[in-house]
Amino acid sequence: MDITKTIRLFAGFGMLILAGGVYADGWDPASSAGAIGSIANTRHNMTMDYAGTGTGTGIGFNMDGYRNDYGAICVYCHTPHGANQQIQAPLWNRTVAPDSVYTIYDKPTTLMRTMSTPGPTSLTCLSCHDGTIAIDSVLNMPGSGRNPMDNSENTSVGTSNINFLDQWRAGGNIGPPPGVHATLGPDLGVGAGPNSCARCHLGSIIGTKGELEPFTAFMIGTDLRNDHPVGVLYPETYTPAADFNEPNVKLPGNMAFFDTNGNNRADTDEVRLYDSGEGYEVECASCHDPHGVPSGGSGTNTRFSPSFLRVNNGIGASHDGNSGITSNGPSALCLTCHTK
Ligand code: HEC
Ligand code: HEC
Ligand code: HEC
Ligand code: HEC
Ligand code: HEC
Repeated sequence: MDITKTIRLFAGFGMLILAGGVYADGWDPASSAGAIGSIANTRHNMTMDYAGTGTGTGIGFNMDGYRNDYGAICVYCHTPHGANQQIQAPLWNRTVAPDSVYTIYDKPTTLMRTMSTPGPTSLTCLSCHDGTIAIDSVLNMPGSGRNPMDNSENTSVGTSNINFLDQWRAGGNIGPPPGVHATLGPDLGVGAGPNSCARCHLGSIIGTKGELEPFTAFMIGTDLRNDHPVGVLYPETYTPAADFNEPNVKLPGNMAFFDTNGNNRADTDEVRLYDSGEGYEVECASCHDPHGVPSGGSGTNTRFSPSFLRVNNGIGASHDGNSGITSNGPSALCLTCHTK
């Protein structure tokens, strides 16, 4: 069997769900987020309240009822001052979970590389996608520093300080009723509670554009056994037998990357490995850039590669609604690292 195809099948573990209008590979032409130009037009813009009208039993449709609206996109993840000191990530403004929360990939019979818990550039993503931390759980709210109302602080590592998050609305801003700060939802949305985005985003609610986008595939949970390994060491030798390509730029203590345009910078569309002290490792941001990556290359105004991928893994002409998107070829992302 074609090995590339085998690899693509493996990618399905936990990440591939076919439901509603979303393609299994993440391409979603019906999305309200245009995925072009900037992060403002992506699903990572948490200031949006797309809700409009809809029908559903016992569910108010205003998304503002589920997360604080800080009115600024970057704030949900970054802060210029008072960043989270507990994590090696750029000016990180969010509560993160301790890495011990996660069940790591466990196929030791096939894995030749050392596994460890998720590193900083995975913990950042998991601080929303594992479903344990509120979407709006920032350390610094915009405007008046830590807290507009009193001297309380949010938790840097652990779970959200809900009383702290309640202060935003108490200060006269847009936010949910006291105590309600939604998490994304648990693994694949199974067992979603009332205070989660999954409450509505499971695909059973009818919105203005028809069935509401199911986001179950985005709910990674804390069990990472069904996801591509993160916190896994990249090989140091690159003989053909090693099965891996060699990154052409290596910056020990920082990162290594596949410098496809030879400019000696880690561009957004270049796959990278992070060294947070244990050597070069694969993390979530090795494959994804949470700000969106123009599929036609850096600086161009084409549609972003689906699923915030750094390299478009083969979504192009064969898909509906494909205008403005450029594929890098089937499994192009996977084949950047794996020689198959
Ligand atoms: C080795 C590359 C790689 C790594 C590492 C990786 N992903 Fe992905 N991810 C993908 C690809 C490719 C897709 C597109 C859908 C697919 O093929 O399964 C995807 C899809 C997703 C999706 C959307 C689900 C969908 O089907 O569109 C989310 C959310 C996601 N990844 C989050 C994460 C998080 C969080 C981490 C770290 C814990 C992570 N990814 C690590 C490659 C990766
Ligand atoms: C009360 C129900 C409800 C809850 C809870 C909810 N949403 Fe929504 N969401 C909606 C509706 C309705 C739409 C618009 C769908 C449409 O236009 O058909 C929407 C759309 C979206 C979209 C755009 C989807 C697309 O088309 O690409 C995103 C992103 C989103 N919501 C994020 C969130 C986040 C993050 C949370 C949790 C903080 C959340 N939602 C909680 C009802 C809800
Ligand atoms: C959903 C979370 C999220 C949002 C929202 C977000 N970022 Fe980021 N940002 C990240 C993560 C995670 C990293 C680290 C990724 C990496 O190491 O490549 C990062 C890295 C960065 C970096 C340094 C590395 C790079 O890619 O250049 C800059 C600068 C940055 N972000 C700016 C911004 C700005 C400006 C905004 C608002 C317009 C923003 N970000 C919104 C998550 C986010
Ligand atoms: C502030 C919370 C937050 C952080 C931090 C965050 N995400 Fe997301 N992400 C979301 C939400 C919310 C959605 C949309 C799903 C929803 O609304 O339920 C989403 C959607 C996605 C999707 C699907 C996009 C699409 O258009 O299909 C991918 C892939 C993804 N995130 C990957 C990542 C990765 C990788 C990181 C870290 C580099 C990350 N996210 C960090 C909240 C976050
Ligand atoms: C950033 C580099 C990188 C990218 C991109 C990447 N991988 Fe991996 N992958 C690795 C590393 C490193 C391992 C750990 C390998 C080992 O120890 O045997 C791994 C492990 C795997 C495994 C498990 C192997 C085992 O022995 O259990 C599979 C399957 C896999 N990758 C498939 C994929 C697919 C499919 C894609 C594209 C969606 C992909 N990889 C993209 C680096 C990468």
